[in-house]
Amino acid sequence: MNAKQQVSILLEEAGQEYLSGNAIAEELGITRAAVWKCIRQMEEDGYRVEVARKGYRLSEESDAISKNAVLRYLGDAAPLFDVEVLSEVDSTNNHLKRMAAELKAAGGGEAAPWRTVIAGCQSAGRGRMGRTFVSPAGSGVYLSVFLTPQLSASQAVRITTAAAVAACRAIEACTAGEGPERQPCIKWVNDILIDGRKTCGILTEASVDLESGGLDWAIMGIGFNVYEPEGGFPGELQAIAGPIALNRRRDLRSRIAAAFLKSFREIYSDLENGGFAEEYKARSFLIGRPVYVIRNGEVRPATACSIDGECRLLVRYEDGSSEALSSGEVSVRPAL
Ligand code: BTN
Repeated sequence: MNAKQQVSILLEEAGQEYLSGNAIAEELGITRAAVWKCIRQMEEDGYRVEVARKGYRLSEESDAISKNAVLRYLGDAAPLFDVEVLSEVDSTNNHLKRMAAELKAAGGGEAAPWRTVIAGCQSAGRGRMGRTFVSPAGSGVYLSVFLTPQLSASQAVRITTAAAVAACRAIEACTAGEGPERQPCIKWVNDILIDGRKTCGILTEASVDLESGGLDWAIMGIGFNVYEPEGGFPGELQAIAGPIALNRRRDLRSRIAAAFLKSFREIYSDLENGGFAEEYKARSFLIGRPVYVIRNGEVRPATACSIDGECRLLVRYEDGSSEALSSGEVSVRPAL
């Protein structure tokens, strides 16, 4: 562990207490100038440090993602996950895929489930349908979990829908008191909206055993837009994306990551029964809305009627016919 990580752990553990430069220097066996240098570097990672005569402490707006903080907020659930925290990576999904491939190539078999990678920034974040998922430093939290589910390929959508429910629960738990208009809801199949803006997206990728039709493994990746990025969301995202929180809060990104992992693991334990589908439906943004169903370049107006026990979206087209969609894309149609 380098000096910067050690200083950040000391300040995280000190809570509201100030720690003097001398005390930190002595504890770590470094100079006070080196402590100051670490403090400056920590600010680049999202820490906000208050400097006073008494020394240093983390401010209420300090929100860096650290392994120490994530494990602390996971509490008793920490041993259930194998967590790696990176300040930057190309894509957390890619990172786990590489890890799984390397392990297999070395003869180690399948990687262990619940291996989790959390990043504060992605240089090549990926979304559904080959899109980019903008993942700038300092504003979001991006994480992926390696899973070995007992599901058929056609049931794989349950991983995404379970993650959507877990994301709503985590956002609610970490932002209580934000007001009813900032309640998270699910836009089928994988987007979490707050106040009509996308605050979170989910990308589940899997390897299918063609003989059994089951999944060898799956990687569930989720990105939370916790704060508006400095300078705002870029380009066309300005009209689509939104933040979970309007102000920076102490450890919010680590708290959301930990709360999500705990809820996801809980819901996942019932994945085979799909008992969370009722909650998925209750949190739906689309039911009752006019939509466009987008498939193979064709755009068809419809009405979103309901969500069934498999989390399929039931739509009724203008000619009166109906369909249960288990994958694909739907956009909200402005009411006439
Ligand atoms: C979408 O909205 O289309 C899905 C976005 C999924 C983004 C997450 S962030 C963590 C993981 N790593 C990626 O490259 N993508 C997923």
